[in-house]
Amino acid sequence: MADTGTWPTGRTLGYGGDYNPEQWPRETRDEDVRLMAEAGVNFVSVGIFSWALLEPREGEYDFAWMDELLDLLHAAGIAVDLATPTAAPPAWFYATYPEARVVTRDGVPLGPGSRGACSPSHPAYRAAARNIASRIAERYADHPAVVMWHVHNEYGAPVGEDYSDAAVAAWRTWLADRYGTLDALNDAWGTRFWGQVYGEWEHVQAPGPTPATVNQAQQLDYARFTDHQLRALFVAERDAIREHSDKPVTTNFMANECPTTDLWAWAREVDVVSNDHYLTAADPRGHVGLSLAADLTRSVAGGRPWILMEHSTSAVNWQGRNVAKRPGEMARNSLAHVARGADVVGFFQWRASRYGAEKFHSAMLPHAGTGSRVWQEVVSLGADVGALAELQGSTVQARVALLWDTESFWAQDLPWRPSDDLRHRERTRAYYERLWRDGMTVDFAHPTADLSRYALVVAPASYLLTADAAANLTRYVAAGGTLVVSCFAAVVDEHDAVHPGGYGAPLRDVLGLRVEEFLPLRAGESGTVTWTYDGATTALGAPVWAEDLALDGAEVAAHHADGRAAGGPAVTRHEHGDGVAWYVSVPLDVDGLAPVLAAACADAGIAPSDTAEDVEVVVRHGHDADYVLAINHTEAAATVSGVEGTDLLHGGAVGPDLKVPAGDVAVVRMGPGPAAAGAGGPSGPEPRTTESRRRADATTFDEEER
Ligand code: GLA
Repeated sequence: MADTGTWPTGRTLGYGGDYNPEQWPRETRDEDVRLMAEAGVNFVSVGIFSWALLEPREGEYDFAWMDELLDLLHAAGIAVDLATPTAAPPAWFYATYPEARVVTRDGVPLGPGSRGACSPSHPAYRAAARNIASRIAERYADHPAVVMWHVHNEYGAPVGEDYSDAAVAAWRTWLADRYGTLDALNDAWGTRFWGQVYGEWEHVQAPGPTPATVNQAQQLDYARFTDHQLRALFVAERDAIREHSDKPVTTNFMANECPTTDLWAWAREVDVVSNDHYLTAADPRGHVGLSLAADLTRSVAGGRPWILMEHSTSAVNWQGRNVAKRPGEMARNSLAHVARGADVVGFFQWRASRYGAEKFHSAMLPHAGTGSRVWQEVVSLGADVGALAELQGSTVQARVALLWDTESFWAQDLPWRPSDDLRHRERTRAYYERLWRDGMTVDFAHPTADLSRYALVVAPASYLLTADAAANLTRYVAAGGTLVVSCFAAVVDEHDAVHPGGYGAPLRDVLGLRVEEFLPLRAGESGTVTWTYDGATTALGAPVWAEDLALDGAEVAAHHADGRAAGGPAVTRHEHGDGVAWYVSVPLDVDGLAPVLAAACADAGIAPSDTAEDVEVVVRHGHDADYVLAINHTEAAATVSGVEGTDLLHGGAVGPDLKVPAGDVAVVRMGPGPAAAGAGGPSGPEPRTTESRRRADATTFDEEER
């Protein structure tokens, strides 16, 4: 990732969203910019799906409407994140290059009439994408409205794996680059099993339909290849832009939602990390999933500020049941992203669509218009974001890291595992949520990363763990770190082959045990383990999964009270070098993890917060001050102790404790006095008065309570 120097919105936070005015008559735009000013919008993304309008026929361009739009936005003082429109190839492209369509695993080519990329492996699509990116960059490189480039849209969705002829040809080239020889490929994939040995590169297929399950190492490599091809498409467009412009380039990720992209690798290719996040309506605790996605985004960004490119003001339209946000929820969501490092708050989209697939999706300017509650909240949030200008560039620091390895997740998701019930996503969320409820700010880290700055490292789902990564974790503990490893860990290497020496072998020394056998439970069964560490006797539910462990130096912190492993160890603790390693061989739920993580935190010398559950508190560290952001997700007022300073949203002094009303958010600049930070400091709008804030709030939570 390049150092971008100045933040795209200057020394202020960005506020805005996707702006797709081409779906509206020309006269709407004047009203749009007037209302954007009212809402405090200073940043919009344009042109994301405009290829058919910008290049109506191959090689014929119409930039007049975009010229006018950019001029209009610039005159209104709104910065533009200008997109390349390659996520929606025009109908002429499909007609001219039908062989460039993506083909599904079942052999069905995907046609026009919707959106989604063509085959990232097809030279015609690659060339056309590069060409339109280059034309746009050439024309608008020096346009004063344009502050950054938004390449494509959400790589990996809706197009991920591709089984077209072009993809299969590229796959063979990719394999030849990776393995050099067919012998090396045969060894890596273990093709002697089930007689799959290859004698010619042309005989190697994509892992399409087969009589029984496809070779799993082959499937894992296909996931790597898919990610690589998508990223190569991004790089081609990015480099086309860089020939004309040195403004920062981004593309919007879907942290935690897109299974086909390895964000650690993607983040190295962009200048600024951006993310889209939508609540999962079926998840009643979606705000925790939001925090997880935001922490993951900040982590892949290397701790630098990032852009929340899209979220929703209220309901989305693409889930089974699209639950609208309740009063105040949008602001809590937006400011939770800010708390976790976002320096731009963006939405999909500015004005609700009348036509097409997303007409039931909420927007900043909803169908119900400017008289609506959603609009009032959008205006109120714009004022809040404006009042937080001085937070720009401040950072979040964590003492706890959760390991995140996309390759491990790909591998664990392959078929024919010991149990369908043990899911990396569920385990990651359970551990994350335990730490979230305990008020711990968490980074995500790759298992091979330098972990020395963390007091506690948690490995919730490390099914695939290379010998190098395991050595890294072992060194971390030996040097004094505290490590918590969850079940089904270090089972296979990078080729999905069981480690020599058996399950968990590379972690044997640090954990002080061997895993002899997996003991998955039948559907509906659940076991109990008894937590006895430090003199306690607590029964904890252990659903889905157990393991048969043989201790080799570890002490028992909890044992199985029943089931196939009755009497055997379930949770262990092992001192190794200057540190401690815990092994949790059962998938404890969020409550069950409480004593385990409390004990591990004690080993790590860190303490959970005493703030009420569901009151989220995060600190952003600036040059001149620290900022406490407190988000009260409960329906009761909350107190955060030890917060003294200036309330940037409500105005006035705070301290020695911070009171956060039910459903509200507070942002406090720590330190004495209401004065702004020093010279060259913040230049954002004045904080709103308590009274104006109350007026905005009166339309939110009070209404719900009536
Ligand atoms: C994604 C896309 C947007 C829009 C939203 C709807 O984030 O990037 O174009 O479809 O989903 O939630």
